[in-house]
Amino acid sequence: MTQTRTFTVVDENSQPICELPVFNGTLGPDVIDVQALYRKTGMFTFDPGFNSTASCASDITYIDGEKGILLYRGYPIEQLAERGTFLEVCHLLLYNELPTTDELTAFEQNITMHTMVHDQLTNFFKGFRRDAHPMAIMVGVVGALSAFYHDALDINSKRDRDLSAIRLIAKVPTIVAMCHKYSVGLPFMYPNNKLSYVENFMRMMFATPCDDYIPNPVLVRALDRILILHADHEQNASTSTVRLAGSSGANPYACITAGIACLWGAAHGGANEAVLNMLQQIGDVSEIPKFIARAKDKNDSFRLMGFGHRVYKNYDPRAKLMRATCYEVLEELGLHDDKLFKLALELERIALEDPYFIEKKLYPNVDFYSGIVLHALGIPTNMFTAIFAMGRSIGWIAHWDEMISDPDQRIGRPRQLYTGETRRDLPSQHR
Ligand code: ACO
Repeated sequence: MTQTRTFTVVDENSQPICELPVFNGTLGPDVIDVQALYRKTGMFTFDPGFNSTASCASDITYIDGEKGILLYRGYPIEQLAERGTFLEVCHLLLYNELPTTDELTAFEQNITMHTMVHDQLTNFFKGFRRDAHPMAIMVGVVGALSAFYHDALDINSKRDRDLSAIRLIAKVPTIVAMCHKYSVGLPFMYPNNKLSYVENFMRMMFATPCDDYIPNPVLVRALDRILILHADHEQNASTSTVRLAGSSGANPYACITAGIACLWGAAHGGANEAVLNMLQQIGDVSEIPKFIARAKDKNDSFRLMGFGHRVYKNYDPRAKLMRATCYEVLEELGLHDDKLFKLALELERIALEDPYFIEKKLYPNVDFYSGIVLHALGIPTNMFTAIFAMGRSIGWIAHWDEMISDPDQRIGRPRQLYTGETRRDLPSQHR
């Protein structure tokens, strides 16, 4: 980043109070560096929800929300989703470059060699109720990984950070599949080294010791694309959570677990599950106007799930790709007349013509169509957010690594505008 100019803070009489540096990045709005503001003026900035605050500088992902552009390390999401694979994207996000053929082979082998989890880890599952939400289990089990890999927990060692990244990319799918098997009371399936990353995950999800699972290439490609589309999204709530947790020096497994916990919320990754529940609740095209009216009613807490985004004020490019994937998957499975998909298309059409949604620039986000694809792939609704976590783990770990590698990194410690009681004394009769 380079300093281009300064920004002058003035008082109510337009008298200058202080000059603050303004930096520009390679793309996107300039930033006013307010680090010296408190020292120079005695005031903080106030920005709950971080609408106008860049919490860090990052080289990883760029979003232009007005134009609906998403770039991973400079490459448009459309090109990566159409011509890349998830593991190529992992390499890109972690190391800044797409792998050569040899690098990709080595990377895939490395990941494959780490897909098994420590056998002792399976005991953790037994402590959970069978009906526990998979995200609750994920929080517990991924967090527990730090108890198993003491050999590589030095966050100041690049070798340890890389090894932790590989372990997380490799083991999260195994844990996600174990969550599913545990909830349906079936034995865990070990990974199979002959299969690709996504084939292996689908087999661990759907095969049983009595029945093998032959992955369908169209469905494998669809899930690979879902993972690509969820791989990173700059400083979203869960990634910012990972960075904040990591800023204290916490180990990578603990930090990724913090990200998983944050992702679970319905306003973030929990939305894909909420979308499918909403579509099932709407039930029929004739009911759509009733739900649109509820979404617009300020006295009703109902929101159109899968609509709206903090950054995108245009069509989320990932939603477009996801909608195309819906067509491919439903075609492959002979589900041309899928009721939920038809309902979603109609809901989108009606919402996008409604002045409320037009005015507020509310468009479908990535979660609007992902649930329909996952549902068609046979993934239970309560597993949707865990699949999102599987794709996003690479983004979290790339951001965590970028932050730890930054020599200027300091613990994240926001300030506040205090609005509570001023100093007061305990009553004299109080013990
Ligand atoms: N349905 C109805 N109204 C909405 C919706 C929606 N889905 N989203 C936003 N609005 C309205 C709000 O009521 C608000 O109206 P107001 O200005 O009259 O008060 C206005 O649009 C702005 O909304 P905010 O909540 O202030 O916007 P914010 O940037 O804080 O929130 C969010 C973005 C959380 C994604 C929101 O749009 C939402 O709750 N969407 C539904 C949940 C969802 O799909 N989440 C997934 C996000 S993508 C992801 O995490 C992968």
